[in-house]
Amino acid sequence: MRIIFFAGKGGVGKTSAAAATGIKAAEMGLRTLVMSLDVAHSLSDIFDLDKGLLDQNKGRPLQVGDNLWIQELDIQEEIEQNWGDIHRYLSTLLNTTGLDEILAEELAILPGMEEVSLLLYINRYAKTKTYDVLLLDCAPTGESLRFISIPTALEWYMKKIFKMERTLAKYVGPLARKVYNVPIPGDDYFDAIAGLFDRLKGVDELLADPKTTSVRLVANPEKVVLKETQRAFMYFCLHKMNIDAIIINRILPDDVKEGYFKSWHESQRLNMEMAKEVFSPVPIFHVPLFKDEVLGYERLHLLAERIYAGRNPLERFFEGEPYKLSKEDGRYRLVLNLPFVSTDNVELHKIGDELVIRVGGIKRHVLLPRHVAASRSVRAKMEGEHLNIFFEGEEHGKRKEC
Ligand SMILES: Nc1ncnc2c1ncn2[C@@H]1O[C@H](COP(=O)(O)OP(=O)(O)O)[C@@H](O)[C@H]1O
Ligand SMILES: [Mg+2]
Repeated sequence: MRIIFFAGKGGVGKTSAAAATGIKAAEMGLRTLVMSLDVAHSLSDIFDLDKGLLDQNKGRPLQVGDNLWIQELDIQEEIEQNWGDIHRYLSTLLNTTGLDEILAEELAILPGMEEVSLLLYINRYAKTKTYDVLLLDCAPTGESLRFISIPTALEWYMKKIFKMERTLAKYVGPLARKVYNVPIPGDDYFDAIAGLFDRLKGVDELLADPKTTSVRLVANPEKVVLKETQRAFMYFCLHKMNIDAIIINRILPDDVKEGYFKSWHESQRLNMEMAKEVFSPVPIFHVPLFKDEVLGYERLHLLAERIYAGRNPLERFFEGEPYKLSKEDGRYRLVLNLPFVSTDNVELHKIGDELVIRVGGIKRHVLLPRHVAASRSVRAKMEGEHLNIFFEGEEHGKRKEC
């Protein structure tokens, strides 16, 4: 099975790229599902379908062509199916603390429920081998990144908190119920959590396995968009997820070099130069701005042609990690693989949370996690093909800000 996530800022072309890839994969004879995780679903619009069709389907997969299905997660349905007892307990709890019932029900939809629902689907589809290819059209960056840390967070919760809570509820519950008039979770609640956890087993390995799962970051050649993409890039790198391509979409054609779009054209060119320094060695695919919106099968097909330019869309375009970050004896170490560098002369500049590295004609920009960026001293050493960068000591006063 192949799983590919399409992530990036809102409006850059994630849904279009996921759908276009889906069309290609289905054409190759593979059972393909394009799944939307964005609450503002637009898969049905992009395929130019009647919205009612998907609504009737209540968040289940809908076949839109040979070997091709689309699915838009319906959070209400998911809550009923996966979160029933948990949601009921939380909303009763919030309701007894004085909140209006409807508001309590709304607030009891915890952040992360949608992401867990998605992980449940991925796991189920992988286990039942329902599809050969899963293409995940993510919510805009900030929200979509949360799902990666959920399996680890849940594991921690189950190991450290869950047993304790359950024992506490069992012994203290009856008394607390009398004294405080607050509902204490019962067996239903705990069984539901344990059941969820069980159904999630193995999904973390699936996501971390580069042979199965890759992330493609979609961006536009604009400064703000690229900065956000760079943040996502760092985040996926830290979680050791394979990023196998960057898709820079909506590039202005050269015929608008002069006139009204002149400065747009020039700034796009500069931003694309910068993108090479930021995302290298992950390959960048360039996609032009089409004359019109990318709607319907024909144009999606054309979009796929422009993205992959004859390559197999399911290929793993990049293997390995762009960089590795570790912490040893209280100091951070960043390792970059730089083959073909024949000098030891490394120049480093830290500008805010970004590290600019120059070595032997190569320039790289690495966005640093906040704790690393707060380091006072930065040193570099070339060892064979590896550039090692050491960060030590936190900058004065920075600790409080973090
Ligand atoms: N290369 C392109 N040329 C022209 N329009 C595009 C291109 N890529 C995407 N679009 C259009 O941009 C809009 C946003 O794309 P979409 O895929 O929905 O973005 P996202 O899912 O990232 O929010 C849609 O109307 C889509 O048709
Ligand atoms: Mg979208």
